[in-house]
Amino acid sequence: MIFLTRRERFNAAHRLFRKEWSDDKNFEVFGKCSNPNWHGHNYELFVTIKGDTSDETGFVINLKTLSKIVRERIIDKMDHKNLNIDVEFMAGKITTAENIAIAIWNEIEADIKAYDCHLHCVKVVETENNSIEYYG
Ligand code: NI
Repeated sequence: MIFLTRRERFNAAHRLFRKEWSDDKNFEVFGKCSNPNWHGHNYELFVTIKGDTSDETGFVINLKTLSKIVRERIIDKMDHKNLNIDVEFMAGKITTAENIAIAIWNEIEADIKAYDCHLHCVKVVETENNSIEYYG
C-alpha cells in the first residue's frame, strides 16, 4: 500500500460565530477568529491518497490528475474567497478547520474513487500551530 500526498495552498477570509450569540459570547468561545469584520488565513491543504501502484505507469494516481481535481473542486472555489459567504459547500457551516476538512473530503471523495484510488486523509493547516486531519 502506497500513500501519496499532494499539497495545495489557498488564502481565505472567515469568521467563526453563531448568529444567535452576542459578539461577546462569540469572542469568548471562538476568540479572535470571531472578529465581526472577518480576517484571513493562509491555509495549507494536504490530500493523501492510498492505493497500489499501476503496473502500467508506476503511479498510485497521476499527480496531474489529483492536482486538477483538488484545484477545480476546492482551490478555485476557496482561494481569495470568504468561506462564510462565497463557498457553496460551506453554506450553513461554522468555518472551523474541522468543518473545512470534512467538507473538502466530501467534495473530492467520489472523484478520487473514480480513479480506483482511496482518499486517506484531508489535512487542513490553518496556522503554523494548528492543523486538522480527517480520515472520513
Ligand atoms: Ni480564523
